Amino acid sequence: MRQLRTYPVWDAGVRWFHWINVICVLGLVAVGVVILNDRALGVSNDGKVLLKTVHVWIGYVFALNLCWRLVWAFVGGAHSRWHELLPVGRGYPAALRRYVAALRAGEHPQYLGHNPLGRIAVAVLLFLLLAQAVTGLVLAGTDLFMPPFGASIANGIAAAGVDPRTLVPYAPEMYDKDAYAAMRAMRAPFVRIHGYGFYCLLFAIGAHIAAVVITEVRGGGNLVSAMFTGKKILRAPLSDQTKDASP
Ligand code: HEM
Repeated sequence: MRQLRTYPVWDAGVRWFHWINVICVLGLVAVGVVILNDRALGVSNDGKVLLKTVHVWIGYVFALNLCWRLVWAFVGGAHSRWHELLPVGRGYPAALRRYVAALRAGEHPQYLGHNPLGRIAVAVLLFLLLAQAVTGLVLAGTDLFMPPFGASIANGIAAAGVDPRTLVPYAPEMYDKDAYAAMRAMRAPFVRIHGYGFYCLLFAIGAHIAAVVITEVRGGGNLVSAMFTGKKILRAPLSDQTKDASP
């Protein structure tokens, strides 16, 4: 019988990113669901502005944390870097085929970092998070005149004689009608992507949690606690398949 060994895998940068991201996404989803149902809930205009402002402030923390993770993928520990994160690299297609074949054969190969299927999930999650951050920042500017785009949006739509710095949301008398209509048309696709992104993200997060739980129950490796401690407890020695997964 093979022995178990403790391997340091997730560095502090990855762990902090992961849990700050979880907290932010939970907050953004919770406030987002209320914004989505504001009419049914009878929320006033002031209430909407408050909800959106809270959502945007959580969004700033979320977006900064995400930017930090993208930088960390260049400078962090071996398992935090792009070549271990994304489904790319010369060895990747073969590693994926072997992993899927092993699963079909009822085996559960263990990996130090992400398994080949996990890398696809990470790429999808990062893409969706990035799309939410970019579209959210545009909406923050076009809806609430908040940074980073708010000042230029306000400059573009302020009515003649109105100081753009004094613009407030839901005050059509302060806006130039045509410029406001053009701005609303420009923001429409961002609203749509942000909305669909929300549903896609809910689905992807559900799939991510299910995959982590199933992988841990079937193959071991204490995946959940490893995101707190940074350490995985795996069979020793690890199979060659684990090493082949990296390019
Ligand atoms: C995981 C990330 C995020 C999720 C799940 C999320 C979710 C949502 C949801 C469900 C809505 C309601 C959509 C609607 O009314 O049609 C919403 C609206 C909004 N979000 Fe986010 N959001 C995220 C990130 C962000 C970020 C990073 C920002 C900005 C910093 C942001 C800014 C906004 C704004 C301004 C609105 C109001 C848009 C409107 O006027 O309809 N969001 N978000």
